[in-house]
Amino acid sequence: MSDTYNIGLGNNDTDTRIKADSDFVSFWNDQAKNLTWFSPWNETLDWQPPFAKWFVGGTINASHNALDVHQDSKSEKPAILWEGENGDSRILTYGQILTEVQKFSNILKSLGVEKGDRVTLYLPMIPELPIAMLACARIGATHTVIFSGFSATSIRDRVDDSKSKVIVTADGGYRRGKIVKLKEVVDEAIEDFDFVKNVVVVERTKNEIPMTCKDKLWNDLMNDASDNCPAEKLDSAHPLYILYTSGTTGKPKGVLHGTGGYLTHLYSTFKWAFDIKDSDVFFCTADIGWVTGHSYVVYAPLLHGATEIMYEGAPDFPDASRMWDILQKYKATIFYTTPTALRMFMKFGDDIPNSFDLSTLRLLGTVGEPINPEVWRWYFKTIGKEKCPIIDTWWQTETGGMLISPLPGLETIPLKPGSGTLPIPGVNITVVDENGKDVEPNTKGYLVVKNPWPGMLLTLWGDDEKYKTVYWSKYENCYYPGDYALKDADGYLWLLGRADDVLKVAGHRIGTAELESCIVSHDDVAESAACGIPDEVKGEVIIAFVVLKEGINTETKVLEKELVEKIRTDIGAIATPKQIYFVSKLPKTRSGKIMRRLLKAIGNNEKIGDVSTLEDGAAVIEVQTAFDEIQKSIKESN
Ligand code: WTA
Repeated sequence: MSDTYNIGLGNNDTDTRIKADSDFVSFWNDQAKNLTWFSPWNETLDWQPPFAKWFVGGTINASHNALDVHQDSKSEKPAILWEGENGDSRILTYGQILTEVQKFSNILKSLGVEKGDRVTLYLPMIPELPIAMLACARIGATHTVIFSGFSATSIRDRVDDSKSKVIVTADGGYRRGKIVKLKEVVDEAIEDFDFVKNVVVVERTKNEIPMTCKDKLWNDLMNDASDNCPAEKLDSAHPLYILYTSGTTGKPKGVLHGTGGYLTHLYSTFKWAFDIKDSDVFFCTADIGWVTGHSYVVYAPLLHGATEIMYEGAPDFPDASRMWDILQKYKATIFYTTPTALRMFMKFGDDIPNSFDLSTLRLLGTVGEPINPEVWRWYFKTIGKEKCPIIDTWWQTETGGMLISPLPGLETIPLKPGSGTLPIPGVNITVVDENGKDVEPNTKGYLVVKNPWPGMLLTLWGDDEKYKTVYWSKYENCYYPGDYALKDADGYLWLLGRADDVLKVAGHRIGTAELESCIVSHDDVAESAACGIPDEVKGEVIIAFVVLKEGINTETKVLEKELVEKIRTDIGAIATPKQIYFVSKLPKTRSGKIMRRLLKAIGNNEKIGDVSTLEDGAAVIEVQTAFDEIQKSIKESN
């Protein structure tokens, strides 16, 4: 059995769970009242499975709730303490952000952006990114942020799908001391897209960039813009953003989030999980290009009028002390990061964090992947000095906000390293078998959510059918997230990784199908199968098996280079496989399906079970040999 830690913040509100358990709809109805609405709703939940509308008839605005509502008491309070990778820093107060946001809202309007239009944001981690998001929200435009590590082809697909009229980008961003070019990538991505009318360029690095007739400089526009732009009164279900994420099909899915339900979910979870106080200095290390950044860097902290740190660059640049240096410099009280980052910090040794004053910390969190118990214990001891609870928060792009997490702001329960503990109040989560039957305690099964919750996605952009099949078809009226889990005898949930072909590499979500379709689009490739294998730091890394077309004699070294290059230009560097194995055939079932599980087993050095359903057992031997040979040569070269 796992060790337990009785550590909390002294909160013991049992009422909330009792209310939530007795009637989740009326519970969320009460929670929504924490926000500021222009007009009240007349129906809390309109549930036409699997489509949920929360707070129907109510009107609200995300930017108004993040900024305007704080102006009386907090206009001088720092909202964002921004730290550039190169040591630049900026402090932006709630008053200043509101001014900037209103100006940029007016600029978007002057560029022809109207309520309901989409705007693509491809920016580094600089304050202009949340400003642009909130400006979109203010006028009812739907933002679609693309992670700045994605390539031109990825942007092209996403911009084409969302039909954004305007793109906001930067001349560049800093990453490990180098300038990452962004503007050139956008130019390539939108080359023949007439529907993109304007590209607004923030000058972050001041490197020289090509300017086209569509381009306008952020500062030039801001200098002339009016700083008065009242927030639009929007329906609660108004689409706040689209965020593309990887699934099990070749193309990323556009997860669409609404406004009133999403904000309610974020407001409540931020309070329960982080016990947020006016005096806190919150630091979430997520990039805004991913959902954690949307929810817990941009919206949730600002809804609470909190002060937060936003960091531009790599966590270990210029050296392994950077995170601790930032925590010390800004006297951070809450730190929310990923298991991958923690595993990396842990490898660097205790001396580095021990040489910093981290005594202001009172709460720690992780997100994005399962956390190994030994890393949890290291985090607890070395960073939290055994006085900070750790919240291991499970959720997804689709869920909008946390669904499973310890909630020290609400209650004190024993923590178990590696468990997300309990579902949040108002959400019914369980673990079931293939037939949808609850499994016995301590038995691995599939995680399911049995009722709608306010932060859930509205649908997949432009594809209601896919939304139904991907999430709601495996079990009747249950949301299927695609994760394995088990519930222990205390009812604690343990998340056991993905049950489908979605990988988590350094916490980034990558679909194997996306990678495979990129690899097979190379002229010389006939077939490919990708899978994940465990990695000490990144959680898992990708390996790809490739079958070449008949008669291709190109040296594999050359092909490998070409494929890596192709993956980087089509998807982005984060999808680069650790190893590519060239084989003459892939192991398949008699019906022709590639046996991914078997490839994964080989990659994991596991025993291969029954191969009697295989069409060609020789393929297994070949894959195994290819893998062994490469492993041997890696060992030798080390
Ligand atoms: C995984 C990130 C274990 C899970 C917020 C999920 C986790 C996927 C945890 C969603 C956790 C997230 N423990 N696994 N605490 N948090 N995951 O959409 O497999 O990038 O389905 O959202 O990350 O990834 P996404």
